[in-house]
Amino acid sequence: MRIGFIGTGTITQAVVTGMIRFDVPFERIALSPRNAQRAAALAQLDSRVQVCSSNQAVLDSSDVICLAVIPQIASDVLGELTFDARHHVISFLAGQSIEQVRGLVRRAAKVVRTVPLPAVAEGKGSTPVCPPDAIAKALFAPLGEAVEVADEHQFDALSAATATMASFFALLEEQASWLVRQGLPYASARSFLSGYYVGLAHETTRDTQPFSELIGEMSTPGGLNEQLNTELSKRGTYAHYSEALDRIMRRVQGRQ
Ligand SMILES: NC(=O)c1ccc[n+]([C@@H]2O[C@H](COP(=O)([O-])OP(=O)(O)OC[C@H]3O[C@@H](n4cnc5c(N)ncnc54)[C@H](OP(=O)(O)O)[C@@H]3O)[C@@H](O)[C@H]2O)c1
Repeated sequence: MRIGFIGTGTITQAVVTGMIRFDVPFERIALSPRNAQRAAALAQLDSRVQVCSSNQAVLDSSDVICLAVIPQIASDVLGELTFDARHHVISFLAGQSIEQVRGLVRRAAKVVRTVPLPAVAEGKGSTPVCPPDAIAKALFAPLGEAVEVADEHQFDALSAATATMASFFALLEEQASWLVRQGLPYASARSFLSGYYVGLAHETTRDTQPFSELIGEMSTPGGLNEQLNTELSKRGTYAHYSEALDRIMRRVQGRQ
């Protein structure tokens, strides 16, 4: 694979780092010249990573092109470039539909949407891919999970689900604060919760059973887990979560 990146920011850095760490097969990685410092640092990682003199030079020396500038400037940046029928485009552009991206890359053979997250650098990224695509899967599966969907509405829903990061940390902070109110040093509370949630997340990767079954397994009748989950359910905690995600989905799809 000869793969090029237009835009060498946070996500390109994470993807390229992950590709090298987790041995994704590639012949050459071509980087656009901006951000020069970050591009130079990535080129130090592997002799197959090269910084090109222009965005067009990235296209001319690559078959797979990742679009990794911010969406606000994508039209201006890509409008100056000439894509070719051999180009397989993998877009990272948030909020830009496949149809919109096709309009930006005109003659390219295929356009695939993805949402790579910074955790791909650690091999722990879950990356939505739409439509299913062997090249995007070969790129992202070794960096965690590559979740392929054929329907762009489903892809938008997975994009919306990535809005849950801050609220996840807010939940941890709430629990840490509660432990501190019980007299624990914050560092101990943090250390406990960090390891505890890594363990729980690991449980989900051991099998493919529905999460509802895990709830059942953890809920000994009359036990503490059952009590807390029942109380939070009755208070509408989880229902509020779904309602908030509905509002995120409307934003993701440009409906508000
Ligand atoms: N960050 C996330 O968690 C995340 C998650 C999912 C999807 N995405 C999507 O991934 C894409 C990249 O996001 P990011 O967070 O990596 O953005 P970023 O860190 O802001 O990186 C964008 C890069 O584009 C470069 N750039 C600006 N003008 C350019 C030009 N004319 N030609 C080539 N490169 C140019 C910038 O260089 P300078 O530094 O020199 O200005 C910067 O390094 C976005 O479309 C975003 O929607 C991001």
